[in-house]
Amino acid sequence: MTATSLKEIPTIARWGGTGGSLAFKKDQLGFLGRGIERYGDIFRFRLLGLPIVVVNHPDYIRHILVDQGERYDKDAVIFKVVRPVLRKGLIANPDMALWRRQRRMMAPHFTPRTVNVFARNMTDETVQMLERWDADHEGEVINVTAEIGGLALRIVNRSLFSTDVSQAAGSFTQAFAVANTVLAAFFKLPFPPLSFPTPSHLRLKRAINTMDGFVADFIAERLAGGPRPEGDTDLLTLLLESVDEDDGRGMDLEQLHHEVLNICVGAYETTTNALSWAFYLLGRHPEVEEKLHTEVDQVLGGRVPTFDDLPKLTYTRMIVDEVLRIYSPAYQFMRRAGQEDEIGGYRMPKNTNVLVNSYLLHRHPDFWEAPERFDPERFSPERINERPKHAYVPFGSGHRICIGKHFALAELTLVLATIACGHRLLTPAGAPDVQPEALITLHPRGGVHLRLQRR
Ligand code: HEM
Repeated sequence: MTATSLKEIPTIARWGGTGGSLAFKKDQLGFLGRGIERYGDIFRFRLLGLPIVVVNHPDYIRHILVDQGERYDKDAVIFKVVRPVLRKGLIANPDMALWRRQRRMMAPHFTPRTVNVFARNMTDETVQMLERWDADHEGEVINVTAEIGGLALRIVNRSLFSTDVSQAAGSFTQAFAVANTVLAAFFKLPFPPLSFPTPSHLRLKRAINTMDGFVADFIAERLAGGPRPEGDTDLLTLLLESVDEDDGRGMDLEQLHHEVLNICVGAYETTTNALSWAFYLLGRHPEVEEKLHTEVDQVLGGRVPTFDDLPKLTYTRMIVDEVLRIYSPAYQFMRRAGQEDEIGGYRMPKNTNVLVNSYLLHRHPDFWEAPERFDPERFSPERINERPKHAYVPFGSGHRICIGKHFALAELTLVLATIACGHRLLTPAGAPDVQPEALITLHPRGGVHLRLQRR
């Protein structure tokens, strides 16, 4: 197709003010959902003057993330917003040469098989949490999101540093919540440089300092000859020992700091939200919960699961997949078109910011029947094969796919199975529905609160 015969991407000219900015700020998911209904699977809106193209079809998403993945980089507005926190770490790094080097060094520690060394951390920490629940909270309504948040942070940090982070965890989780809220607001509004001392910037800077201090203390302790893991290894050791095959050198200490922080940030709230939503949905769907109990009873017979049980926990895994569909924790990501491109007969101008919203994609009526229904059977092997692969991208796709995908899937499945063996989390009578809050991640607004009961 010649450049002149290409169609222009449908554009929202004026809609709720300035081409969509105000409506987007007020209700991001509602605004984008209405855009898709009215304009289809590709359209453009303006976020305070900046044109943003929304793509909501598996073919377009495969094009951007995989087929033409090298032409679409992370020099996009959302990554500029989070870069003051994540800096040169893998998540937001637009420098492809540095990213490639880092990913090459780190990828071997995150394969489906190598994450098995962290499985014990996942189940041990869950068992300890359950013992505390039994001692302190039996029969009570608990804040599941806060409880699971502490658990997720302990799991990732024990996997990183082999230490108990309980003491420092509170300050990290508070700082993370501040960063998540402040940055989500920045994404919707123009923001002056961080050196400008607005109250939000000062809060964000304090939050960054807290998270930096958290990571720096553990690294400093290890470098000063602090306790190293016995037998099994931890991620910090693996990263310190990683050497690039091209130049035979490892990563410098600043880069190591950024990668460790990226792992904490990437792992902590995504898994917390996924498990919170999982228990929220199970509490409202006893028929699914019953099938979960049947499976864990048959496979585990009351014992704590191990990594080797994962292939047998098929229904538990289907629940995890369905939760990640309905409440995709990393529900939006962006790319920038590095060059002019053609996508589905449309002209994609150079420098365009492209937005993928997996919350909406995972509800696309062409690929998901009754998309609001919680139905783990959608993820039976036969039904997975009936859909295009890119109708479902909770971990992204292509070369920037989540490096922690296998870690996360093991963690979600093992934690769910460990809790389901002997405990239930019930919906308290009259509890209102929990709404998703579209921050940088998809957070359950107000947290999920459920009643703890022993099975
Ligand atoms: C349910 C849990 C998780 C979800 C839904 C999730 C989702 C995602 C998504 C969608 C991306 C790609 C973003 C893009 O293409 O722009 C990503 C990247 C990333 N995630 Fe995760 N993630 C999860 C857990 C984890 C865990 C457990 C870790 C670390 C142990 C982690 C570390 C990272 C890192 C470092 C990247 C950047 C990868 C790169 O660009 O090379 N994530 N994640």
